[in-house]
Amino acid sequence: MPSLGFSLGHYGDLGLSEHRKDGQLTKIMRTGVLAKYKDFLPITANTPLFSLGEGNTPLVRCDQLAKEIDCGELHLKLEGCNPTGSFKDRGMVVAVAKALEAGSQAIMCASTGNTSASAAAYAAYCQLTAIIIVPKGRIAMGKMAQAIIYGAKIVTIDGNFDQALEIVRSLTDKHAVALVNSLNPHRIEGQKTAAFEIIDSLGEAPDYLFIPVGNAGNITAYWKGFMEYYQSGRAQIKPGMMGFQAEGAAPIVRGHTIKEPETIASAIQIGNPASWQKAVAARDESGGIIDMVSDDEILSAQKLMATGAGVFCEPASAASLAGLVKLSRNGMDFSQKRVVCVVTGTGLKDTEVALKSAPPFLELPADIVAVEQALGWG
Ligand code: F0G
Repeated sequence: MPSLGFSLGHYGDLGLSEHRKDGQLTKIMRTGVLAKYKDFLPITANTPLFSLGEGNTPLVRCDQLAKEIDCGELHLKLEGCNPTGSFKDRGMVVAVAKALEAGSQAIMCASTGNTSASAAAYAAYCQLTAIIIVPKGRIAMGKMAQAIIYGAKIVTIDGNFDQALEIVRSLTDKHAVALVNSLNPHRIEGQKTAAFEIIDSLGEAPDYLFIPVGNAGNITAYWKGFMEYYQSGRAQIKPGMMGFQAEGAAPIVRGHTIKEPETIASAIQIGNPASWQKAVAARDESGGIIDMVSDDEILSAQKLMATGAGVFCEPASAASLAGLVKLSRNGMDFSQKRVVCVVTGTGLKDTEVALKSAPPFLELPADIVAVEQALGWG
């Protein structure tokens, strides 16, 4: 038992619970990333194992969308179903567990919103201080609300994400506070478990994985996960890694940093990704590509995913599907391929963009006949 100032009992029973169903005692496992993938993670006897219920997200097969895009088989990996509504929780639980193990009392990150929401939540669960630095006016309100309600120390800077990250790197070097951006390798370790889940669900790796690229940690993590399962014999193939940046924030595609990145997809409004070289390696080793999509393509894909599959994602998350649509329209043949699009975060974090595209509603008095007539049944 580690001496962390509290007992592991503080974290409950790792989500292992029992209930009676048809007179039978049934065990429900909600083990979370740390306990479920212990053997693949940097866990020691002193690492506290806890969970807010991250991981084990749905992989939804979408035949209607597949037909529209002329794709053999299409699955959406719904990372918005994580406890704080994005994939960040998978990595954050590992980073925070390791920070606790190392005796940290505070964690710190720069963020376009999701990392800060996740850091704030896990810090609250573990009673650590979370300090977050976010670019003023460039993060979705839902994400800001999360950081506020979880009780993080919030600093907004008059600058962009890249500048926020520079500040955080420098201050975490100097002060006793753990950096929990994806530069922290524990974040990558946790996030790779999404690749494990995809293989565990499909029984094999897909032919292609489409994924949005911002700071480039997630594409790095997925590739690591796919490689590790391949090397351990759990998968016979490795997917082509298909990363997509937003046109106004596409440093990797353009081959140079972008000083003033601009896109409606605020989560990936990044001009100098921390894991740039690792993303390029994932692309090249997998025979994939890193390309870009316009804001219009992102918004159409967001709408297509909502109306064609019932999935509401935030704009940045739609870059994966937008990329698939773009390549398919440009003549790449997916008709015999199995494709997974990673849907990185829920649309409920950023309702502003969706509301802007609202058609006019029927506005009527509270009257049955009036509603009936307006619906054409009168
Ligand atoms: N999708 C969403 C919803 C994100 O929040 C992010 C990154 C990405 C995709 C890109 O992932 O950075 O690993 O390439 N959000 C970070 C944040 C930067 O601060 O929340 P990446």
